[in-house]
Amino acid sequence: MRFTIAIDGPAAAGKGTISKAVAQHFGFAHLDTGLLYRAVGAQMLAGVAPIEAAQTLQADALDPAKLRTADVAQAASKVAAIPEVRAALVDFQRAFASRAGGAVLDGRDIGTVICPEAEAKLFVTATPEVRATRRHLELVAGGSSTDYATVLADVKERDARDMNRADAPLRPASDAHILDTSQLSIAQAIAQAIAAITSKQKG
Ligand code: CDP
Repeated sequence: MRFTIAIDGPAAAGKGTISKAVAQHFGFAHLDTGLLYRAVGAQMLAGVAPIEAAQTLQADALDPAKLRTADVAQAASKVAAIPEVRAALVDFQRAFASRAGGAVLDGRDIGTVICPEAEAKLFVTATPEVRATRRHLELVAGGSSTDYATVLADVKERDARDMNRADAPLRPASDAHILDTSQLSIAQAIAQAIAAITSKQKG
């Protein structure tokens, strides 16, 4: 059985949490495609040319613990604007999406570019302030001493770069279900995501 769920949206909208819960609910494999761009961004910060880093990326470079920092997030959105970097990561993502047993991919361009034929598409969003509050809590819990205003500025800068790039800009697919999580608890957001996907499965 092949069934692809594409989950896109801006920084810290809740894609990761929702994607993991959705994958668990349906028994599908999950790929956080942001980690691919974060790994390339981290290598750029370490002095490797981004295109070369993308073309030689290895699975052991995808360690979330090392990649979930504010500096790596900014570097990720810079390398993500380079068409050759994106091109180098397409095959891996499409192969993952078409695996037997079902797949959930979350990112920015899954429903628009990587898997335009995905059976279910969600676009998860929330206001910049809500997203910055969530990301700030997450970073502080991880030991960072960054302040809210810096995180909000980072989120807005990254959104602008992701939405305005020429290649695979962040935008909802025309057939995506829009899920605004600004006023939702995690449990409510997960329940609404599962309901939207289940209706696609039945339809
Ligand atoms: O977790 P968060 O939403 O903050 O970011 P992420 O999903 O880990 O993605 C980090 C950066 O990678 C984004 O700001 C995008 O620039 C880029 N990205 C992308 O261009 N395309 C994807 N499919 C996934 C991430």
